[in-house]
Amino acid sequence: MTRTRLVAGNWKMHGNRAANAALLDAILRGQGGDASAECAVCVPFPYLAQVGERLRGTAVAWGAQNVSEHAQGAYTGEVSAAMLADFGCKYVIVGHSERRQLFGESDGQVAAKFAAARKGGLTPILCVGETLAEREAGRTEQVVGRQLDAVLSSSSFGDAVLAYEPVWAIGTGRNATPEQAQAVHAFLRTKVPSETCILYGGSMKAANAAGLLAMPDIDGGLIGGASLAAEEFLAILRAAGSIRVTT
Ligand code: PGA
Repeated sequence: MTRTRLVAGNWKMHGNRAANAALLDAILRGQGGDASAECAVCVPFPYLAQVGERLRGTAVAWGAQNVSEHAQGAYTGEVSAAMLADFGCKYVIVGHSERRQLFGESDGQVAAKFAAARKGGLTPILCVGETLAEREAGRTEQVVGRQLDAVLSSSSFGDAVLAYEPVWAIGTGRNATPEQAQAVHAFLRTKVPSETCILYGGSMKAANAAGLLAMPDIDGGLIGGASLAAEEFLAILRAAGSIRVTT
């Protein structure tokens, strides 16, 4: 069985209409319809219409970075899974460490968001990851296991995507070594369906992608900073597409 290879950009709170148009054009030019690895961009809510319109009918998918756990109602400022599906989203990032740390999302809330995304027909990209203090205390598996188990206790994983994103590597320029990442991916793989695509995220860029993607349990990347530069992003996509993983 061949697992899907996926490279997903997480634009975070960056972009404007002109910059988005230029970035999407450059990605589409460079990607050239090559489907050896799947490609997606997860963009801020206001740009979903623009991005969906530009990418419809292309080999690049799109998604959001957050979703409400509620289906509808009096939840000012929130966006439901059905609304995202209405804009043609395939993916939604759930449980990113910035949501957990800066916006206080609990394991239980992340699990509810995951369930809402699945129910709404979206493919969640569930993020798990430990802080530096947790790694140094030898608690990495305990932490990522707890984060994943919270989701699995209320939902089947289905065809969701899992992303291992060590907090100490996000936006710091300091990536996990291929061996450090592989060890955690192998642990996570024991808990999810064997065909699950498990991404690595945390300062993945053109220069380190090939080494990380060569690991047997690293199926792609969730890319923050490097997804805003078309050439960097495309180089990661090419690295993912050139390495096939067979289970
Ligand atoms: P980074 O972000 O690639 O800038 O480290 C990854 C992420 O937060 O998803």
